[in-house]
Amino acid sequence: MGLGRFLLTARGAGGGGHRHGLFRGGTIDHPRTYEVISTLAFAGKRGGSFARLAALSGARPGDRVLDVGCGTGCLTRAMAARIAPDGRVTGLDLSPAMIAYAGARGPASCSYVLGAAQDLAFDDGSFDVVVSSYAVHHVPAEARRAAFAQMRRVLRPGGRLMVADFRPPRGGLGRRLADALAGPAIAGDGTPGTDIDALAGMVAGAGFTIEAEGRLRPVTRYIRAVRP
Ligand SMILES: C[S@@+](CC[C@H](N)C(=O)[O-])C[C@H]1O[C@@H](n2cnc3c(N)ncnc32)[C@H](O)[C@@H]1O
Repeated sequence: MGLGRFLLTARGAGGGGHRHGLFRGGTIDHPRTYEVISTLAFAGKRGGSFARLAALSGARPGDRVLDVGCGTGCLTRAMAARIAPDGRVTGLDLSPAMIAYAGARGPASCSYVLGAAQDLAFDDGSFDVVVSSYAVHHVPAEARRAAFAQMRRVLRPGGRLMVADFRPPRGGLGRRLADALAGPAIAGDGTPGTDIDALAGMVAGAGFTIEAEGRLRPVTRYIRAVRP
């Protein structure tokens, strides 16, 4: 599949009827093409970038970790390195193709399940750490608050959330590109909850205490928070 067609055929989370670009949201059902694009987008620094996010999560050996919107499992595997030798990481994604791809590549400490961020099928307090990278903008805007409420529910008291997503460029060509590719999913349309800058508000609104916020060059924003 060519890049242009891939960008146009990532499916909406509500079913196959909606057409979105890669960055507009919904599931991604072509893991191999996603890998190529993602590797290029990180200009050869993808592994290091995910290792940094994994370190920022504060996960420790023995922790039980959930990776929401795990995709091909890059962060899931980076988290597995943090929680070794006896921790466990569960990767969750709404795309069966992503789950199959990630499942074929993860170490024994990783398992992968099909599911939606806004409807997590885990018991209360099941995890020490919940992480999510570049996936929140794929969750429908109206479901994002429910997704953060679910992440809080499945964390134990004192557990940590680390969420990272794209930070839109602030001006010039980059901003215009973000607008064209992502629309409100990333670039924002002024409506609360549709702009990724609303991330901190959604995390705090779900009852988390924000511990750290930061940026990773060139286009990543992350937040780490604790469940009181
Ligand atoms: C841009 S990818 C990020 C994948 C991975 N976390 C990474 O950093 O490479 C976003 C992922 O979110 C998944 N996704 C979309 N909607 C979702 C939802 N409601 N719940 C869980 N995953 C979802 C997509 O299928 C896709 O694999």
